[in-house]
Amino acid sequence: MSSAIDSVLTETRVFGPFERVANNANISGMDAYQALYDEAARDPNGFWERMAREHLVWDKPFTTVLDDSDAPFYKWFADGELNVSANCLDRHLNTPVANKTAIIFEADDGEVTRITYKELHARVCQLANGIKSLGYQAGERAIIYLPMSIEAVVAMQACARLGITHSVVFGGFSSKSLHERCVDIGASLVITADEQKRGGRAIPLKKAVDEALAQAGTESVKNVIVYRRSGGDVEWKDGRDLWMHDLVEGQATSCDPVPVNAEHPLYILYTSGSTGKPKGVQHSSAGYLLSALLTMKWTFDLKDDDIFWCTADVGWVTGHTYIAYGPLAAGATQIMFEGVPTYPTPARFWEMIQRHQCTIFYTAPTAIRSLIKAAESNDEHHPKKFDLTSLRIIGSVGEPINPEAWVWYHTHVGRERCPVIDTWWQTETGVHMITPLPGATPLKPGSCTLPLPGVDAAVVDESGQEVPAGKGGFLVIKRPWPAMIRTIWGDPERFKKSYFPPELKGYYLAGDGAQRDAEGYFWIMGRIDDVLNVSGHRLGTMEVESALVSHPLVAEAAVVGRPDATTGEAVVAFVVLKRPLPQGEEGQTIARELRDWVGREIGPIAKPREIRYGENLPKTRSGKIMRRLLRVVAQGENITQDVSTLENPAILEQLSQAY
Ligand code: PRX
Repeated sequence: MSSAIDSVLTETRVFGPFERVANNANISGMDAYQALYDEAARDPNGFWERMAREHLVWDKPFTTVLDDSDAPFYKWFADGELNVSANCLDRHLNTPVANKTAIIFEADDGEVTRITYKELHARVCQLANGIKSLGYQAGERAIIYLPMSIEAVVAMQACARLGITHSVVFGGFSSKSLHERCVDIGASLVITADEQKRGGRAIPLKKAVDEALAQAGTESVKNVIVYRRSGGDVEWKDGRDLWMHDLVEGQATSCDPVPVNAEHPLYILYTSGSTGKPKGVQHSSAGYLLSALLTMKWTFDLKDDDIFWCTADVGWVTGHTYIAYGPLAAGATQIMFEGVPTYPTPARFWEMIQRHQCTIFYTAPTAIRSLIKAAESNDEHHPKKFDLTSLRIIGSVGEPINPEAWVWYHTHVGRERCPVIDTWWQTETGVHMITPLPGATPLKPGSCTLPLPGVDAAVVDESGQEVPAGKGGFLVIKRPWPAMIRTIWGDPERFKKSYFPPELKGYYLAGDGAQRDAEGYFWIMGRIDDVLNVSGHRLGTMEVESALVSHPLVAEAAVVGRPDATTGEAVVAFVVLKRPLPQGEEGQTIARELRDWVGREIGPIAKPREIRYGENLPKTRSGKIMRRLLRVVAQGENITQDVSTLENPAILEQLSQAY
């Protein structure tokens, strides 16, 4: 970890405060931040009780705040009842927000659709009534496999309204991933579309659902509701499949929200861990929604007239918290985009900010880095060509943002007037945890700065002791927080083992390396486990390895990450074939075949950038693969480490040959 630490902490520039934002910010100035932080630290339960009473609408008020009797299976507001969809929609109906635009949807081809809160409420109720008419009830689980669309938000909200736990599967995942998730949650309902449109292409979705449901273990699925997006051809299974437009036709535009317990699982979202099988991260209803709403107000300093745009897909946690739930609970107007940042040109984001007068823009470092490249190679795609003066706050999420990209973003997109909000959090944390506040925190490029009120973050060593400033260690959260993961669906033991290792005194282990500087700022150094971050997407190396070894030609595989200037990390796979080493063209043909195979097994995001062949992998005498050495080989560097413990040192030379 040490070279990474040294490189980030050579950064000494400080930006801000930003008067324009600070002057009327929801949390204005460091004293206000500190006061709120201290209140939460002094009396966490009192703090969260106050927040939950002030910000949520309860059907049955709670009487307990934190129940830690079965730690680490924490419960928050456990005897309270509410409905998440009522807290996102119904609460606005008798206020001026009812006629405010909830979503400005821009399709791949540029067509724009607007929907008000009142209309969105009606759409959600109609779909909920349709689902109810099929006999579904609270407690069942639904898979949502939809493109970025108003319908995706409607589907998530309709499930929440009925107390049906959803699991959204990103449209880029394969039918095999879909199948695994369907089986794991025991889904009874699937909501999908005929096709999705991205970058001018139509990509089938229903077809993947059909393939997934043709396999064993999915008998629990009774219906597939299909949103007609493209009008492309689909196969149809009578009795099971229903068009969404047929189902909602004639349904009432009101539907009583079902009150659920505060701890009722709102959703399960799969994410990669260090073993082969993705983990179903289970989130609660009340605690999750409370913090989704609070962070809209704190981190994004949301105001009534803001036009908020989070560019994430609803298939990831960012799209759950900062598209489907947080902005709606806060009554915000938000932009939702179907397509990709590079279509029809890499100026699409800048055009859209200008067209819709976006004030808060939230995207990922990987997008910023690829748009920098595009802007620098063609002036027409440079943000300076567009009027971006509507912007007030610009944010970043998903991976460390390198200082150069940060400064470019600040200079050319934020025009030096907008704070860059680098938010650190995870699928498991549910919401932002460590992040600047736009009207308060002085910024340092590459640092996610300071924890939010109520977040007790620290950097510790293997025994849970806090390390001094300037030393690297494990990032932990010392106290439970309302939006935290509740368990791994169906695997409570794995939950305990992954996040609460006994030697860490009950702290939540994030899985990231970090260090703090002399002012207490956090600098994230990347994962400490076998998880890669490719374009802001989490990928387990074991997941890719299992996919590779399931190919008939592959005997053994080891996967590592290599730093990449655009995608953050790139997947490099070392492969031992069940046949002699391929030569020339043949090697490339097999590599193509293996990449496509991984694409089909997991999804295109998991395809290895590079595949290298060897007759074996570097192993210790006890047979353990030396990944440390493979990482060096993947970077094209010479091995300077001691290789005397290797059983077969000569293999390193062979693996250095790339295809
Ligand atoms: O390694 C950290 C990185 O992304 C991981 C979480 O990934 P995921 O659960 O997919 O959630 C992504 C969206 C919240 C973290 O363990 N990460 C996320 N945000 C940052 C980050 N690394 C550095 N800086 C960030 N701002």
